[in-house]
Amino acid sequence: MKVTLDTSMDAQMSSAEIAAMRRSYGEVGLEEIPANPFDLFSSWLAQARANPAMVEANAMVLSTVDHRGEISSRSVLLKGVTEHRFIFFTNYNSRKGQAIHSQPNVSLLFPWFAMERQVSITGTAEPISSAESDEYFASRPWGHQIGTWASRQSEPLTHRKELEERWKAAAEKWPEGSSVPRPSHWGGYQVEPSTIEFWQGRYSRLHDRVRYARDNDEWEFARFYP
Ligand SMILES: Cc1cc2nc3c(=O)[nH]c(=O)nc-3n(C[C@H](O)[C@H](O)[C@H](O)COP(=O)(O)O)c2cc1C
Repeated sequence: MKVTLDTSMDAQMSSAEIAAMRRSYGEVGLEEIPANPFDLFSSWLAQARANPAMVEANAMVLSTVDHRGEISSRSVLLKGVTEHRFIFFTNYNSRKGQAIHSQPNVSLLFPWFAMERQVSITGTAEPISSAESDEYFASRPWGHQIGTWASRQSEPLTHRKELEERWKAAAEKWPEGSSVPRPSHWGGYQVEPSTIEFWQGRYSRLHDRVRYARDNDEWEFARFYP
Protein backbone atom coordinates (compact mmCIF):
# COMPACT_ATOMS: atom_id res chain seq x y z
CA MET A 1 0.00 0.00 0.00
CA LYS A 2 1.33 3.41 -0.94
CA VAL A 3 0.87 6.11 1.68
CA THR A 4 0.98 9.70 0.50
CA LEU A 5 2.09 12.22 3.07
CA ASP A 6 0.19 15.49 2.98
CA THR A 7 2.99 18.02 3.28
CA SER A 8 0.92 21.00 2.13
CA MET A 9 0.50 23.97 4.43
CA ASP A 10 -3.28 23.20 4.43
CA ALA A 11 -2.63 20.18 6.64
CA GLN A 12 -2.74 22.16 9.86
CA MET A 13 -4.28 21.34 13.24
CA SER A 14 -6.35 23.59 15.45
CA SER A 15 -5.46 23.97 19.14
CA ALA A 16 -8.64 22.03 20.02
CA GLU A 17 -7.55 19.12 17.82
CA ILE A 18 -4.10 19.11 19.43
CA ALA A 19 -5.63 19.24 22.93
CA ALA A 20 -7.85 16.24 22.09
CA MET A 21 -4.85 14.06 21.17
CA ARG A 22 -4.60 11.47 23.91
CA ARG A 23 -4.32 7.75 24.26
CA SER A 24 -4.62 5.37 27.11
CA TYR A 25 -1.38 3.80 28.28
CA GLY A 26 -0.79 0.14 28.96
CA GLU A 27 -0.94 -2.44 31.65
CA VAL A 28 2.76 -3.28 31.59
CA GLY A 29 4.43 -1.67 34.56
CA LEU A 30 7.77 -1.25 36.23
CA GLU A 31 7.24 -3.86 38.94
CA GLU A 32 10.73 -5.26 39.32
CA ILE A 33 13.31 -2.54 39.67
CA PRO A 34 16.92 -3.72 39.27
CA ALA A 35 19.60 -2.25 41.56
CA ASN A 36 21.65 -1.06 38.59
CA PRO A 37 19.99 1.40 36.18
CA PHE A 38 22.23 0.24 33.31
CA ASP A 39 20.63 -3.20 33.45
CA LEU A 40 17.20 -1.61 33.04
CA PHE A 41 18.45 0.78 30.35
CA SER A 42 20.02 -1.97 28.28
CA SER A 43 16.92 -4.14 28.45
CA TRP A 44 14.67 -1.19 27.45
CA LEU A 45 17.05 -0.28 24.60
CA ALA A 46 17.05 -3.88 23.35
CA GLN A 47 13.23 -3.93 23.49
CA ALA A 48 13.06 -0.60 21.65
CA ARG A 49 15.42 -1.85 18.93
CA ALA A 50 13.34 -5.02 18.49
CA ASN A 51 10.07 -3.08 18.26
CA PRO A 52 9.00 -2.52 14.63
CA ALA A 53 7.03 0.57 15.67
CA MET A 54 10.23 2.29 16.76
CA VAL A 55 12.38 4.41 14.45
CA GLU A 56 15.97 5.21 15.47
CA ALA A 57 15.69 3.63 18.92
CA ASN A 58 19.17 4.93 19.74
CA ALA A 59 18.29 8.56 18.95
CA MET A 60 18.25 10.81 22.01
CA VAL A 61 17.62 14.48 22.63
CA LEU A 62 20.73 16.17 23.97
CA SER A 63 20.19 19.47 25.79
CA THR A 64 23.02 21.83 26.59
CA VAL A 65 23.43 25.23 28.24
CA ASP A 66 25.79 27.79 26.73
CA HIS A 67 27.93 30.44 28.42
CA ARG A 68 24.97 32.89 28.40
CA GLY A 69 22.72 30.33 30.09
CA GLU A 70 20.78 29.70 26.87
CA ILE A 71 19.43 26.15 26.56
CA SER A 72 19.38 24.29 23.24
CA SER A 73 18.28 20.78 22.30
CA ARG A 74 18.88 18.51 19.34
CA SER A 75 18.85 14.79 18.50
CA VAL A 76 22.04 12.76 18.41
CA LEU A 77 22.63 9.03 18.13
CA LEU A 78 23.78 6.97 21.08
CA LYS A 79 26.80 5.04 19.83
CA GLY A 80 27.76 3.12 22.91
CA VAL A 81 27.43 2.69 26.63
CA THR A 82 30.96 2.13 27.85
CA GLU A 83 31.89 1.85 31.52
CA HIS A 84 28.57 3.39 32.44
CA ARG A 85 29.03 6.38 30.15
CA PHE A 86 26.66 7.28 27.29
CA ILE A 87 28.68 7.96 24.10
CA PHE A 88 27.75 10.09 21.09
CA PHE A 89 29.74 11.66 18.26
CA THR A 90 29.66 15.16 16.86
CA ASN A 91 31.61 18.21 15.75
CA TYR A 92 33.48 19.72 18.71
CA ASN A 93 33.15 23.22 17.15
CA SER A 94 29.38 22.95 16.75
CA ARG A 95 26.93 24.90 18.88
CA LYS A 96 26.57 21.90 21.23
CA GLY A 97 30.36 21.40 21.30
CA GLN A 98 30.93 25.00 22.32
CA ALA A 99 28.20 24.83 24.94
CA ILE A 100 29.68 21.66 26.47
CA HIS A 101 33.11 23.28 26.46
CA SER A 102 31.88 26.14 28.64
CA GLN A 103 29.28 24.20 30.64
CA PRO A 104 29.54 20.37 30.75
CA ASN A 105 26.13 19.82 32.39
CA VAL A 106 23.81 18.13 29.88
CA SER A 107 20.63 16.12 29.72
CA LEU A 108 19.79 13.19 27.46
CA LEU A 109 16.24 12.12 26.69
CA PHE A 110 15.12 8.95 24.93
CA PRO A 111 11.52 9.67 23.82
CA TRP A 112 10.27 6.16 23.15
CA PHE A 113 6.66 7.25 22.53
CA ALA A 114 5.69 4.12 20.60
CA MET A 115 6.46 2.10 23.73
CA GLU A 116 4.91 4.58 26.15
CA ARG A 117 8.33 5.03 27.69
CA GLN A 118 10.95 7.66 28.24
CA VAL A 119 14.36 7.63 29.84
CA SER A 120 15.82 10.94 30.94
CA ILE A 121 19.36 11.37 32.09
CA THR A 122 21.29 14.24 33.64
CA GLY A 123 25.05 14.30 33.82
CA THR A 124 28.27 15.84 32.61
CA ALA A 125 29.85 15.46 29.18
CA GLU A 126 33.52 15.30 28.28
CA PRO A 127 35.39 14.28 25.12
CA ILE A 128 36.46 10.64 24.83
CA SER A 129 40.10 9.84 23.96
CA SER A 130 41.41 10.57 20.43
CA ALA A 131 42.16 6.87 20.01
CA GLU A 132 38.52 5.95 20.72
CA SER A 133 37.27 8.65 18.32
CA ASP A 134 39.71 7.43 15.64
CA GLU A 135 38.46 3.89 16.05
CA TYR A 136 34.81 4.87 15.62
CA PHE A 137 35.53 7.28 12.74
CA ALA A 138 37.37 4.50 10.88
CA SER A 139 34.29 2.25 11.22
CA ARG A 140 31.97 4.77 9.50
CA PRO A 141 30.96 4.42 5.84
CA TRP A 142 33.18 6.41 3.44
CA GLY A 143 30.38 8.83 2.46
CA HIS A 144 29.79 9.71 6.12
CA GLN A 145 33.49 10.28 6.68
CA ILE A 146 33.61 12.62 3.68
CA GLY A 147 30.45 14.36 4.87
CA THR A 148 32.14 15.07 8.18
CA TRP A 149 34.96 16.88 6.35
CA ALA A 150 32.43 18.79 4.22
CA SER A 151 30.30 20.14 7.07
CA ARG A 152 31.22 23.11 9.20
CA GLN A 153 28.48 22.05 11.57
CA SER A 154 26.36 24.88 13.02
CA GLU A 155 27.98 27.61 10.89
CA PRO A 156 25.81 29.64 8.48
CA LEU A 157 25.64 28.25 4.93
CA THR A 158 24.77 30.64 2.08
CA HIS A 159 23.94 28.02 -0.55
CA ARG A 160 23.50 24.26 -0.36
CA LYS A 161 25.78 24.11 -3.42
CA GLU A 162 28.68 25.26 -1.24
CA LEU A 163 28.22 22.20 1.00
CA GLU A 164 28.07 19.89 -2.02
CA GLU A 165 31.22 21.44 -3.44
CA ARG A 166 33.03 20.95 -0.15
CA TRP A 167 31.88 17.29 -0.21
CA LYS A 168 33.19 16.85 -3.77
CA ALA A 169 36.53 18.44 -2.88
CA ALA A 170 36.94 16.11 0.11
CA ALA A 171 35.89 13.12 -2.02
CA GLU A 172 38.60 14.00 -4.57
CA LYS A 173 41.18 14.38 -1.83
CA TRP A 174 40.29 11.02 -0.26
CA PRO A 175 38.72 8.84 -3.00
CA GLU A 176 36.53 5.90 -2.05
CA GLY A 177 38.68 3.06 -0.78
CA SER A 178 41.39 5.34 0.63
CA SER A 179 41.86 5.89 4.34
CA VAL A 180 40.08 9.07 5.45
CA PRO A 181 41.67 10.72 8.51
CA ARG A 182 39.42 11.89 11.33
CA PRO A 183 39.11 15.68 11.50
CA SER A 184 40.52 16.77 14.87
CA HIS A 185 37.35 18.84 15.46
CA TRP A 186 35.12 15.75 15.27
CA GLY A 187 34.86 13.01 17.87
CA GLY A 188 32.99 11.49 20.75
CA TYR A 189 31.66 12.72 24.02
CA GLN A 190 30.89 10.56 27.02
CA VAL A 191 28.15 11.54 29.40
CA GLU A 192 28.67 10.45 32.97
CA PRO A 193 25.16 10.25 34.44
CA SER A 194 24.23 11.61 37.84
CA THR A 195 20.54 10.69 37.54
CA ILE A 196 18.66 8.27 35.26
CA GLU A 197 14.89 8.34 35.28
CA PHE A 198 12.62 5.70 33.73
CA TRP A 199 9.03 6.53 32.88
CA GLN A 200 6.47 3.94 31.87
CA GLY A 201 2.97 4.96 30.81
CA ARG A 202 0.19 3.23 32.78
CA TYR A 203 -3.60 3.21 32.89
CA SER A 204 -5.57 6.27 34.10
CA ARG A 205 -2.42 8.40 34.05
CA LEU A 206 -1.03 6.40 37.01
CA HIS A 207 2.32 6.13 35.32
CA ASP A 208 5.42 4.51 36.79
CA ARG A 209 8.31 6.83 37.41
CA VAL A 210 11.57 5.61 38.93
CA ARG A 211 14.62 7.79 39.33
CA TYR A 212 18.09 6.51 40.13
CA ALA A 213 20.58 8.93 41.66
CA ARG A 214 24.29 8.23 41.84
CA ASP A 215 25.99 8.38 45.21
CA ASN A 216 29.71 7.83 44.42
CA ASP A 217 29.72 4.36 42.86
CA GLU A 218 26.36 3.36 44.29
CA TRP A 219 22.95 3.94 42.78
CA GLU A 220 19.92 4.70 44.88
CA PHE A 221 16.46 4.65 43.44
CA ALA A 222 13.08 6.02 44.41
CA ARG A 223 9.62 6.19 42.91
CA PHE A 224 8.09 9.57 42.16
CA TYR A 225 4.55 10.72 41.60
CA PRO A 226 3.87 10.84 37.87
C1 LIG B 1 17.65 11.28 14.31
C2 LIG B 1 18.78 12.26 14.29
C3 LIG B 1 20.05 11.85 14.67
C4 LIG B 1 21.11 12.75 14.68
N1 LIG B 1 22.33 12.31 15.10
C5 LIG B 1 23.36 13.20 15.19
C6 LIG B 1 24.60 12.78 15.74
O1 LIG B 1 24.80 11.64 16.18
N2 LIG B 1 25.59 13.70 15.80
C7 LIG B 1 25.43 15.01 15.37
O2 LIG B 1 26.37 15.77 15.45
N3 LIG B 1 24.25 15.43 14.87
C8 LIG B 1 23.21 14.56 14.78
N4 LIG B 1 21.99 14.98 14.29
C9 LIG B 1 21.85 16.40 13.89
C10 LIG B 1 21.63 17.22 15.17
O3 LIG B 1 20.31 17.05 15.66
C11 LIG B 1 21.92 18.73 15.00
O4 LIG B 1 21.13 19.27 13.95
C12 LIG B 1 23.39 19.00 14.68
O5 LIG B 1 24.24 18.17 15.45
C13 LIG B 1 23.73 20.47 14.95
O6 LIG B 1 23.40 20.78 16.30
P1 LIG B 1 23.96 22.07 17.05
O7 LIG B 1 24.05 23.17 16.04
O8 LIG B 1 22.97 22.35 18.13
O9 LIG B 1 25.33 21.72 17.60
C14 LIG B 1 20.91 14.11 14.26
C15 LIG B 1 19.62 14.51 13.88
C16 LIG B 1 18.58 13.61 13.89
C17 LIG B 1 17.20 14.09 13.52
